[in-house]
Amino acid sequence: MVNAVITGIGAYLPETKLTNEDLSKMVDTNDEWIMTRVGIKERRILKGEGLGASDMGAEAIKELLAKKNIKPEEIDLVVCTTVTPDAPVPSTAAIICDKCDIRNAIAFDMNGACSGFLYGLDLVAQYIRTGYKKKAILVSAEKMSAITDYTDRTTCVLFGDAATACLIEPTEEAGVGLMDSNLHTDGMGRHWLKVIAGGSVKPASHETVDAHEHFVYQEGKQVFKYAVTRMADATVDIMKRNNLVADDVAWLVPHQANLRIIDATADRMELPKDKVMINIQKFGNTTSATIPLCLYEWEKQLKKGDTLIFAAFGAGFTWGSIYYKWGY
Ligand code: UT7
Repeated sequence: MVNAVITGIGAYLPETKLTNEDLSKMVDTNDEWIMTRVGIKERRILKGEGLGASDMGAEAIKELLAKKNIKPEEIDLVVCTTVTPDAPVPSTAAIICDKCDIRNAIAFDMNGACSGFLYGLDLVAQYIRTGYKKKAILVSAEKMSAITDYTDRTTCVLFGDAATACLIEPTEEAGVGLMDSNLHTDGMGRHWLKVIAGGSVKPASHETVDAHEHFVYQEGKQVFKYAVTRMADATVDIMKRNNLVADDVAWLVPHQANLRIIDATADRMELPKDKVMINIQKFGNTTSATIPLCLYEWEKQLKKGDTLIFAAFGAGFTWGSIYYKWGY
């Protein structure tokens, strides 16, 4: 049976760092609160006139193509996960393809919010398993600073900018690649984490700008309550149905929204902390880029056949877990 496997990763991290000290000069916050409640020290911010998610995504792909010695024309599918497209039309995927000279691929955007990487990997795997596409890129490009309200202390400490690009190819080798997906959506959560204006219901107007309605609005406590239980439930469920115990798992690769949510998930799995990928302190919440950014940073430590559990929770609500066997 043909399976889909990640065969390489590129990433782009903007140089500018926004530290807790920087934020404490902008809003009424402090390092101690952010570290104890969330676990973030600093985040990266994309600076520069006219730069958007596509610029970061294109850089991540260029690094990936160079690393793998692949020509742009070999790529036949590009899926871009983002909640911060360059603009509503055209797709950020199309813009990225142009910037990378990828002209033989079908390309489109996908919005699974913070679960976007899991949704994207699951989707791309279907294209690969059927034999329809052979060399796909899942690019996760998030310029969260564009939709973050730096006058709102409850959200501005949370988010950062980043992009990643994963090459996904077919394999006939048993025991590597995407083994199982356990993904969910429940739209009842849409009221607690959203951008209110700028879409078809409430197009941009002077009023929406004045009311800060183009920024992320979050009722943190509500989201936290659901995130803690659902991310852990999805993880424990996928382990159970695949007869996995903590000892079988090499790494938990969790979405990086809050260290307390990550800890709760690891505890439910009965997994020691040294098997959990955590880089939230350096990059904050980069939405769909968090999980692949962990894989990028840990790439050298990963061994072929390692059992990984990916887990995420985000706006929608969307959440889920993936059981994945590392492929190189
Ligand atoms: O990735 C997408 C999914 N998103 C998530 O998973 C995020 C889930 N939510 C969370 O991670 C947490 O709810 C937050 C980190 C957003 C907030 O932490 P919390 O422990 O739920 O804090 P809270 O909202 O209950 O606020 C506690 C207090 C409040 O003050 P009072 O009402 O007790 O006087 C807030 O006003 O902390 C205050 N506060 C702050 N203080 C200093 C809120 N933000 C800040 C801040 N600095 N940045």
